[in-house]
Amino acid sequence: MTEAKRLAAESALQYVEDGMIVGVGTGSTVAYFIDGLARIKDRIKGTVSSSEQSTEKLRAHGIEVFDLNSVGQLSLYVDGADECDPQRNLIKGGGAALTREKVIAQASEKFVCIVDPSKQVEHLGAFPLPVEVIPMARSLVARELVRLTGGQPVWRMKDEATAVVTDNGNHILDLHGLRIADPAALETKLNQIPGVVTVGLFALRPADILIVGK
Ligand code: A5P
Repeated sequence: MTEAKRLAAESALQYVEDGMIVGVGTGSTVAYFIDGLARIKDRIKGTVSSSEQSTEKLRAHGIEVFDLNSVGQLSLYVDGADECDPQRNLIKGGGAALTREKVIAQASEKFVCIVDPSKQVEHLGAFPLPVEVIPMARSLVARELVRLTGGQPVWRMKDEATAVVTDNGNHILDLHGLRIADPAALETKLNQIPGVVTVGLFALRPADILIVGK
């Protein structure tokens, strides 16, 4: 799958135009995109990054990283996904960067999603749905997720004693056991739970272009 990820990432470079500020996602597929971007870094103005991890890699390549607030609307966002369906609805957040990813996707005219073939599914939900929550709301949100979906939320841990903490200082619940019939309706419903920061469903703002590396 490594080669498939690299091929998808290389193919996304065709959407990068001179003078652009490019939105950059997070993950192992995007890491290849960043490597490709480094080769053409003199042609672009810079990037907006969706995580500390990507920011570090971009800066290591000498690529400028701007604050989204200072650049406004972006033309292009390139990111991976954990699952994608035929309508280009996505599950994202396996790398815990879902909130900034969703913000940048919303701020971008074109969202190009790069995946290997293992990410393609008919119906989303086999991959546990990440939900970023404010820490004090974790158990409330977990109970609501059970009530509203019948799924099983699992608190994401780094190890037995340490919770995963997102770049925004929040926690992640991974919701298992879903078969998502209407991704946009579920995204809207789960967004209403107090304490939910971001639901890792990208259906209200799906990808515009899907590149599957083969
Ligand atoms: C990060 O939070 C995720 O949304 C990633 O985009 C997703 O997990 C894909 O990661 P890989 O490219 O590593 O499979």
